[in-house]
Amino acid sequence: MPQRLPNLHINADRMWTDIHETAKFGGTPKGGVRRLTLSEEDRQVRDWFRKACEAAGCEVHVDALGSMFALRPGKDKTKLPVGIGSHLDTQPTGGKFDGVLGVLAGLEVLRTLNDAGIETDAPICLVNWTNEEGSRYAPAMMASGAYAGDFTVEDILARKDADGITVGAALDAIGYRGPEPVGKRRLGAFVELHIEQGPILEREQKTIGVVERGQGILWYDGRIVGMERHASTPMEYRQDALAALAEIVLAIETIAKSHAPNAVATIGEAVIAAPSRNVVPGDIAFTMDVRSPDGAIMTALDAEIRSAIMDIASRRRVEIAFDNAWRKPPTIFDASVVGAVEQATAALGYSNRRITSGAGHDACNVNAVMPTAMIFVPCKDGLSHNELEDATKDDCAAGANVLLHTTLALAGVVG
Ligand code: GLV
Ligand code: MN
Ligand code: MN
Repeated sequence: MPQRLPNLHINADRMWTDIHETAKFGGTPKGGVRRLTLSEEDRQVRDWFRKACEAAGCEVHVDALGSMFALRPGKDKTKLPVGIGSHLDTQPTGGKFDGVLGVLAGLEVLRTLNDAGIETDAPICLVNWTNEEGSRYAPAMMASGAYAGDFTVEDILARKDADGITVGAALDAIGYRGPEPVGKRRLGAFVELHIEQGPILEREQKTIGVVERGQGILWYDGRIVGMERHASTPMEYRQDALAALAEIVLAIETIAKSHAPNAVATIGEAVIAAPSRNVVPGDIAFTMDVRSPDGAIMTALDAEIRSAIMDIASRRRVEIAFDNAWRKPPTIFDASVVGAVEQATAALGYSNRRITSGAGHDACNVNAVMPTAMIFVPCKDGLSHNELEDATKDDCAAGANVLLHTTLALAGVVG
């Protein structure tokens, strides 16, 4: 931390007000947020964000996948900006903090520097990445993935939601298909603040997680085709797609538990093609999400799950298509940026521990093209992707202060 600035802190009240203000865009009766990427609610929060960044003296640039980059100039124009930020989209029954905290804490960093009249050497670039959640469009962290070169922009623009609307059409509908080529705005480093989305920090009563790794993620699209039949069909005649799915659900639970604590597996979507109370289901589409911090275990999980599925298909006389839709290897964050987060945390006096992220984050993608790290703060009961997701004002402020001082360390202070 620069000697002259140890007492510089963000304005926790202002950030807390913003968190609750933006939660109104897509706010749900249970106190959560439904703000699917590129929806009307997403447009509203993007407009709010753009205005707030402009009011803080930043130029806002938008790339061809709608990611937003708010630039606070630095003294040295030859230096690449230090990137900070996260995402403003949410799950269908999401909370007020997942993603939002990292963006609004970034905004608070910019405002705090403005209030204190601090000029940094390198510029600072606050980013709102498009479609981190992956709920409306697969995969998650889509735009940061394209930014890092994992996907072509054409591929992503052509992806469709459940209603057949492409990413390109959805961007146009909300006016956020920007002119800037994806990946062109290069950054010198990236730091993302996020709630932990797990129970460790709360359980150990630590304020800050210094994130050094991220789990790998496998996504699959599956389809089970059996035979629709009258509900009076004797049990031995059936080719029940739902019964096959039920076996798959239990099989992946057993497989993931056999690798505990280094594996989790989830079927979060399952759709019966023509549901009817008195028809044996004959056609079901489902998705699967499998995670591990270890690449070798990911490979083993893939093989074990495929073998279990083949066995279930043959015993139940159904056809099962099971395609890998996305493979994100485990992330090892940059040691020097992790070190900068740790130093800022120690200088501010917050209790902390090193931690691995269970969730995927845009930081995991951009780590491949720039030195990156993350900061975690606790969330209540480890609960996330839920309308009741909660975090304390003090913990959020602590995370934002670590973000502020990490940013200052990376950007350098001029005056
Ligand atoms: C993003 O929210 C993910 O971890 O799937
Ligand atoms: Mn998130
Ligand atoms: Mn999320």
